[in-house]
Amino acid sequence: MDTPDRNPPQTTQRSSGHPLRANLNERDSREDLISSRLPGFYELPVGERLGVISKVAGFSEAERFNMGHFGSLNGELTDVFIENAIGTFSLPLGVATNFLINGQDVLVPMAVEESSVLAAASHGAKLARVGGGFSTSTTPPIMTGQVQLFLKKDCDFNAVLQSRKTDLIEFANRGQDSLIARGGGVRDLDWHFIPEMQSVVLHLYVDTRDAMGANIVNTMCERVSTIMPEILPCDIGLRILTNLTDRRLAKAECLIPASAFDSPEFKGKDVVDRIEKAYLFGFYDVHRATTNNKGIMNGIDPVLIATGNDWRAIEAGAHAWACRDGKYRPLAVWRKTLHGDLHGSLELPMAVGVVGGVTKLHPTAQACLKLLGNPDASLLAQVVVATGLAQNLSALRALASEGIQRGHMSLHQKNLDLLQQRVSHAAAKN
Ligand code: MEV
Repeated sequence: MDTPDRNPPQTTQRSSGHPLRANLNERDSREDLISSRLPGFYELPVGERLGVISKVAGFSEAERFNMGHFGSLNGELTDVFIENAIGTFSLPLGVATNFLINGQDVLVPMAVEESSVLAAASHGAKLARVGGGFSTSTTPPIMTGQVQLFLKKDCDFNAVLQSRKTDLIEFANRGQDSLIARGGGVRDLDWHFIPEMQSVVLHLYVDTRDAMGANIVNTMCERVSTIMPEILPCDIGLRILTNLTDRRLAKAECLIPASAFDSPEFKGKDVVDRIEKAYLFGFYDVHRATTNNKGIMNGIDPVLIATGNDWRAIEAGAHAWACRDGKYRPLAVWRKTLHGDLHGSLELPMAVGVVGGVTKLHPTAQACLKLLGNPDASLLAQVVVATGLAQNLSALRALASEGIQRGHMSLHQKNLDLLQQRVSHAAAKN
């Protein structure tokens, strides 16, 4: 497998200029691109990288401009975030309204390209508001790290690990002074055995406070692994956090009176019945559950993106969590109460951070966090999960009554009309 080009090619004469600069003139169009190997590409400044790619792709000035302007970032920051950067990719950023979370009004920033998502989140929040909004909570921010050991011979690993557990926790915490000072650190450690692999897997449970915690946990796992061969006859396997953060959960609930669903076309109590059936459809049918959960992630991912969080991690954890009982299920539960009202709840792994990494460096993420009142990680997780629940409610309400296309298509058509107007306006000006 090809590996990222970290070492400049041996033949390169760095002093007489960069090899790609020299090749640039020869490489005038996409047709000339015979290999995706671009040795030393990573060494160029961002602007020059874009120059290379523009030549290869045959970008027009406008296309080059669209890729290479930085919005709230700049070339330097972009280059800090990722390798081989050439520009940024803009997404619409909007604000979902009507959210009442634990009695507090919240405006929710969402970065997403799909029309209707913000309208639906705001509509779901408006419905929930009739019943007092969302009640939310989180568990402590416990991340789980895995250290895999391959036993070289039979041994009573349970007894050995039990007797060394406190030492291991203490060893893992060493060097994490700032985390410990903030009240975090390893809280517990346990293990399980994979007989098929003769493999013991340690789980390190780490309170990472306001950090998402991937780096902290991975560092701890690697550290602990160094002393394991002194404790057990073993080789070391993988040392990495799990994104199934099932000890770091966030939960949102809402109770909505049936009358909130009354409309000229539908009786609220019938809509409640149909929303419950829509949930049950997903409970029994994996194809429906998948679409249902996509709708929930329509609410969750945009808030994660807007606040600079790792939405791939949350996606991975959410879908694993959705099949924790062996069958893939809807992430949220909707039930009719004894009084005929609708109760909804959504609980899922929610490892978000508000310190470190992108959250601190990205100016737009910082502004979005400010809009949210600079929440700690727990509060942010609660906003995210409430948005997921609102999104699901709105989709199920529409699906269970007039159908999704009426609202979706009218918004879509409005957007297309606006676009057409702007194109005509621009054409008239030129
Ligand atoms: C579309 O992006 C999301 C929905 O399909 C979700 C759902 O079906 O529940 C409307």
